[in-house]
Amino acid sequence: MNTDLRARLLGALGLSLAGCSGEPFPDTLCLEADAEASCPTIEEAEDPLLYDGCGLRTLSVDGEAERVESADTGVAGDAPVACCYPVTRVDGPDCWKMGRPYRPDGVALTAPPVARDRRWSAHGATPHVFGLTDDARATLAAAWTHDALLEHASVASFARLVLELLAVGAPADLVREAASAAADEVRHARLCFSLASAYAGAPTAPGRFPFGGAVPARADLARIAADTVREGCVGETLAAVMAAEARDGATDPAVRAALHVIARDEARHAELAWRIVMWALQEGGAAVRGAVADAFAEVGRPGVGAAGVGAAASAAAGLRAHGRLDAPTADTVATNALTEIVLPCAAAMLAAIGAPDHRFAS
Ligand SMILES: [Fe+2]
Ligand SMILES: [Fe+2]
Repeated sequence: MNTDLRARLLGALGLSLAGCSGEPFPDTLCLEADAEASCPTIEEAEDPLLYDGCGLRTLSVDGEAERVESADTGVAGDAPVACCYPVTRVDGPDCWKMGRPYRPDGVALTAPPVARDRRWSAHGATPHVFGLTDDARATLAAAWTHDALLEHASVASFARLVLELLAVGAPADLVREAASAAADEVRHARLCFSLASAYAGAPTAPGRFPFGGAVPARADLARIAADTVREGCVGETLAAVMAAEARDGATDPAVRAALHVIARDEARHAELAWRIVMWALQEGGAAVRGAVADAFAEVGRPGVGAAGVGAAASAAAGLRAHGRLDAPTADTVATNALTEIVLPCAAAMLAAIGAPDHRFAS
C-alpha cells in the first residue's frame, strides 16, 4: 500500500524518487435537552462530553449546565432546548490529524453529535451486530461517531478550501476537484454515521457546525500551502493508509465496503493536496517555499511525527473485524506512512522546485 501510494503521489507531481500542540482553553459544549426534564448533572454529562483521543479533546466539564432555549446551541434544529456546560478542551499535542480537519484558527472544530436524528444515517451501511456485547457495541458506536464527526468537519474544510483556491487564482481543475472532494466527505460522514447508529442501536447525526458566525477565507498562498501540507499531504495521506489497513482487517461486509470507499477517496484527496502544494510552490516565491518546508519539517521533528495517532484507537482493541485498529497498530501504520510516503515525497517535491531541505531528506 505505502509504496503504491507513494508512487501514485509522485506520479501526480511528475516526480520520481532521487522526507501540534496547544494549551487547554475554555469552551462550551451543549447537549440536547428534554423540554420537561432538568439538565443532567456534571457527572452525568461527563460521559457524552468527555473525549480523550487524538485531536480536539474535552478534558473536563467545569460547571453546572445553563439551560438554553436558542437556535444557536449547536444541537439539531428540532431540539431547541439545550443544556450547555463550561468545559476545558485542548488540541492534542504530538498528534497528527487524520483526514482533513476544519481548523480556522489552528484548532480543529467538529459539530456535536445529536441523538434521535436519522438524516445522516438513513440508507447507509448496516453491519452485523449479532453476538457483540453491549460494551463492544458502545465502543464501536463511540469510535464510528468520532470518525463521522471528523468526516463531517472535512466537508467544511473542503468548502473553505474552494473559497481560498478561488481567492488565490488557482487553476480550474484544482477548484473543481476540491469541490468534488467536499461531496466525497458527505458520503464518508453518512457511511460513518450509519455504522455508528447501527452499533448504537439508535440514530445519531451531526448537530450544527460551530462556525461562530464567520468562515475565514484567506488569500495568502503561503498559509494555504502550509495548511494543505498539514491537512492534506499529511492528514489525508495518513487517512488513506489507515482506512486501507482497517479495511483489510475487517470481516464485516458492510464495514469493509464503507472503508473501501473511504480509502479510495482519501487517496484521491491526498493526491489533490500534493498537486495543490506543488502548484503553490511553482506559483509562489520564497515565502511559499519556506512555509511548505517548515510544515513538512514538523513531520520529522522528534516527538511529533505520528506519535499519538493511535490514542483514538486505544479503546478499540480486539475490534478489527469491525474496522477498528488498536492503538499500537494505528501508531505503527501512521509512522510507516510518514516515513515511507510523506517524507520521501516532500523531499522529492522540494528538490524538484529547487528548495531541498536537509531536515527531512531521505
Ligand atoms: Fe473523508
Ligand atoms: Fe478526505
